[in-house]
Amino acid sequence: MNYLPVTHRSLKQAAEIIRGGGIVAFPTETVYGLGADAFNAGAIAKVFEAKGRPRFDPLIIHIAAMETLEMVAAAAYNMRQKLSLLAKKFWPGPLSIVLPKNEKIPGIATAGLPTAAIRFPSHEAAQKLISLSGGAIAAPSANPFGALSPTKAEHVRDTLGNKVDMILDGGSAQIGLESTVLDITGGRVKILRHGGVSKEEIENLIGAVEDCTALENTDSKTAKAEEAYASPGQLKSHYAPKIPLSTFKTDDISSLPLEQNAAYLFFDDSSCDTWLEGKSRAQNPVFRVLSSSGQIREAAFRLFEILHELDSLRIKRIFAQFAPEQRLGMAINDRLRRASANT
Ligand code: TXA
Ligand code: MG
Repeated sequence: MNYLPVTHRSLKQAAEIIRGGGIVAFPTETVYGLGADAFNAGAIAKVFEAKGRPRFDPLIIHIAAMETLEMVAAAAYNMRQKLSLLAKKFWPGPLSIVLPKNEKIPGIATAGLPTAAIRFPSHEAAQKLISLSGGAIAAPSANPFGALSPTKAEHVRDTLGNKVDMILDGGSAQIGLESTVLDITGGRVKILRHGGVSKEEIENLIGAVEDCTALENTDSKTAKAEEAYASPGQLKSHYAPKIPLSTFKTDDISSLPLEQNAAYLFFDDSSCDTWLEGKSRAQNPVFRVLSSSGQIREAAFRLFEILHELDSLRIKRIFAQFAPEQRLGMAINDRLRRASANT
């Protein structure tokens, strides 16, 4: 495996690998992706294999120019107006839009669905790689299936290093959380995953959208399971550290005990201070804060990075505080709920 910083040369090498049917981990503004040529079924199979990802979970198709859109999707007449509003406002950026797929995209990429989630990332290196590789890259996040998403090249190296042909190191992903997945193929627009573009921002632009991200929707034991197949990747347990994680609400901080061998993750300094009150420093609590001043963007940016770090400590449990349930806080809380689903 080649581990190289992003340069003009390494991007060209990476594109050659992708054109030749190989797989490359690359930076985007959300998280690192593991990319293959979106038109090459064999290469895409390698991505599923490397991640240990079940074949029923479709990949996102990444483009780097609006002209490429028609090569990967086929927006019907009734979707075009919404698509054009959304693309104008949020592309390039952290929004994946589900559209009817172009027949040239092999079925394995979309897990047999007639639709494909399309994203135009804003990251410069990602855009260059996509353009040099033929225009469309199919890429999930570059982590083993179900595990924490990678926000740094090191995260990919440590988990998938021996399973990919190349890792391009472009530093930390600027947003640190995955893209929002939005389905505009039906009568009602549906949010299938909270992410880098908030529900509020989308609703300000196109009006009310349906939130289909509740955990119950994706628990295979419930009646809603069928609906969950709208976005099979939204499995109940996902984005999980290896160490068991439990969540807590801001209101419950004062009664949160200090356990041995546990780490505590707070949303902001004031929450952390409340908890520390009356606790003896001699107990040496392990704690982290997502954003001292409670900035939601900073908190989102640091979430996976801190979880990766805590996951490497010798502790038995992680307690994590929910963020305010608004804007990117909804995406943070969604990741925390899924990370704690098996605890
Ligand atoms: O920010 C991101 O989206 C990152 C970077 C690399 O672009 N990618 C990413 O991919 O998070 P992945 O595979 O980890 O998540 C893709 C999500 C899954 O929840 C999947 O089910 C959903 O998108 N998805 C993909 N195609 C879909 C489709 N045709 N219909 C509904 N959901 C789809
Ligand atoms: Mg993922």
